[in-house]
Amino acid sequence: MSDKQPILEVKKLSKSFGGVKAVQDVSFALFPGELVAIVGDNGAGKSTLIKMIAGTYVPDSGEIWIEGKKQEIRSPQSAMNLGIETMYQDLSLIPTMDVPGNIFLGHEPRQNVAGLKFLNHKKMRKEADELMKGLGIDVPSMRIEVEYLSGGERQAVALSRALKSGELKLLIMDEPTAALAVEEQEKVLDITRRLNNSGVTIIIISHNLDHVLSVSKRILVMKSGHIVADFVGKEITKEQVAQAIVTGTAGTTA
Ligand SMILES: Nc1ncnc2c1ncn2[C@@H]1O[C@H](COP(=O)(O)OP(=O)(O)OP(=O)(O)O)[C@@H](O)[C@H]1O
Ligand SMILES: [Mg+2]
Repeated sequence: MSDKQPILEVKKLSKSFGGVKAVQDVSFALFPGELVAIVGDNGAGKSTLIKMIAGTYVPDSGEIWIEGKKQEIRSPQSAMNLGIETMYQDLSLIPTMDVPGNIFLGHEPRQNVAGLKFLNHKKMRKEADELMKGLGIDVPSMRIEVEYLSGGERQAVALSRALKSGELKLLIMDEPTAALAVEEQEKVLDITRRLNNSGVTIIIISHNLDHVLSVSKRILVMKSGHIVADFVGKEITKEQVAQAIVTGTAGTTA
């Protein structure tokens, strides 16, 4: 894969909060079509790392390269303009807003009526419905406020929001299965695999090693702000990964 250009390359990325070095000198490259998982204990720096790629946090130092070009990603909007979409741990949905409202938040299609711009609700509902059905989720009504949806349905809304961007190059998912019932977790994993099979490059953060191993052939392990292991290949074992999470070493001699 080394002859291809990485879709994403981070070089010596660091971010501190006061005295806490959340991410320290992290470097890695991600190639088109890869699905890489990031694992590690609570507070290891996983979310901080992806938030710098997603434009939520500005790095203290280090560089982010997208498709061979160094980029200053200073806001979620600038990440989106580069084709980077993120599904956050808390999903960041607006509970009192309906499904299309959440999916198109800030990017609502508009129509021109007698020289005035109006939200194109019909188009929003139709596209929202198609996106959700494409994920295999059929909510009772598009007009339902998302606070009344199940965890899995809410997840699909958050994913649809990420997918609606036609330019999607890199999808970042922070703990997409954490708050879900087992059946819904399987659905999300299945969607993740399907998206990756259709060519979307994905970073997925999860604490569930079974989930991680079932979707990903590459696993980065973080500890105390560092990447301490980068496992690649079909024969990665759960024990190997678990050990790296605890000891902070890849344990090649074990
Ligand atoms: N906005 C913030 N302000 C202050 N400290 C923060 C902030 N965000 C993260 N931290 C700290 O940085 C460290 C890394 O946090 P981060 O959220 O990246 O960990 P994580 O690996 O995602 O953990 P988890 O698995 O619990 O989600 C932690 O010590 C955390 O308390
Ligand atoms: Mg986190």
